[in-house]
Amino acid sequence: MVVSKEIHLVKRPEGMPVNSDFAMVEATLNAPADGEVLVRNIYMSVDPAMRPAMTNGQTKLDRAMEGSAIGQVAASNHPDFPEGSYVLHRAGFREYHLSDGKDLSVIVPEGESLTTHLHVLGMTGLTAYGGMLVTGELKENENVFVSAAAGAVGSVAVQIAKIKNCRTIGSCGSDEKVDYLTNELGLDGAFNYKTQSIARSLHELLPEGIDVYFENVGGAHLDAAMGQMRALGRVPVCGMISAYNTKGARSEGVTTLSNMIYNRVTMKGFVVYEFFDMRDQFLADMRQWIAEGKMKYQETIMQGVENAPNAMIGLLQGENSGKMLVQIGPETE
Ligand SMILES: NC(=O)c1ccc[n+]([C@@H]2O[C@H](COP(=O)([O-])OP(=O)(O)OC[C@H]3O[C@@H](n4cnc5c(N)ncnc54)[C@H](OP(=O)(O)O)[C@@H]3O)[C@@H](O)[C@H]2O)c1
Repeated sequence: MVVSKEIHLVKRPEGMPVNSDFAMVEATLNAPADGEVLVRNIYMSVDPAMRPAMTNGQTKLDRAMEGSAIGQVAASNHPDFPEGSYVLHRAGFREYHLSDGKDLSVIVPEGESLTTHLHVLGMTGLTAYGGMLVTGELKENENVFVSAAAGAVGSVAVQIAKIKNCRTIGSCGSDEKVDYLTNELGLDGAFNYKTQSIARSLHELLPEGIDVYFENVGGAHLDAAMGQMRALGRVPVCGMISAYNTKGARSEGVTTLSNMIYNRVTMKGFVVYEFFDMRDQFLADMRQWIAEGKMKYQETIMQGVENAPNAMIGLLQGENSGKMLVQIGPETE
């Protein structure tokens, strides 16, 4: 038997979540029976989509929350998952996970850090890759704007645009992030939407207009960007985080949609699972770009499962640079 600390949602948040919406609970797990695996979690991901799920009922009250995690097999009675192997699954927010193996996939790092499988080589990387290249139909030498550009998805999206020789700009919520985007990732421009006018910044940084707006934020960002889309522009809609703390995740009003007619702009939502069949090509491209120094990443790692609520709140307040993660335990034991 093992005692596992886990994080429960105990109250549906109103607006920005607060610590008292969550509780840490101790669960006792049995040793794995025949065909079962006991996983000791190491890293878990914290994602914006978890916030609307807390309000709309998708996240159940008074039980362990869910989210992507990487763990190590601590004890196994399953032939496919030997002790010591690393596995990816959806049972984050807890120290241990007892599984029949159906929800586990083995990870074999090829020299890269384990954490990359929760971002650049994982879900957020694939989101940016598919969203840009498939939904956004990105072409060489276009004018590209990405919002939440210093985050996990956004920072991959801007670098893919640079790899395609696009004139690429991004928005973000601090001057330090602006500095990272321009000086470290080599963007053609970036601005802090908290201190600068979004519409004016877009006009100054991309005076000829935008071909692809990779939408992560919604509301005022969409309003400003849609007004400056060029003929046959595309708006792949990845997320609208500015609305996630509002009931029903309702975004602010947008007044510029008529530009979709005049400039024949396509706006299309997408979800990452649409791109799962591209995974092999995605991994090959990303590993090559990382090796060539064309794909960089940042991580913000909070320590201890008890800090998962703080990581969630911090993510919604922009405290993360790159991917927000929680380290639950050591990489090896
Ligand atoms: N469609 C899909 O399948 C899919 C998959 C993954 C993620 N997504 C979406 O992609 C977007 C980015 O996700 P991520 O995982 O990469 O998170 P992230 O960008 O790493 O973190 C969220 C960032 O959003 C910014 N933010 C928070 N509130 C904001 C507001 N009111 N206005 C503007 N920016 C705000 C903050 O950065 P600043 O400091 O810049 O404000 C924060 O760091 C989210 O909208 C998410 O829902 C979609």
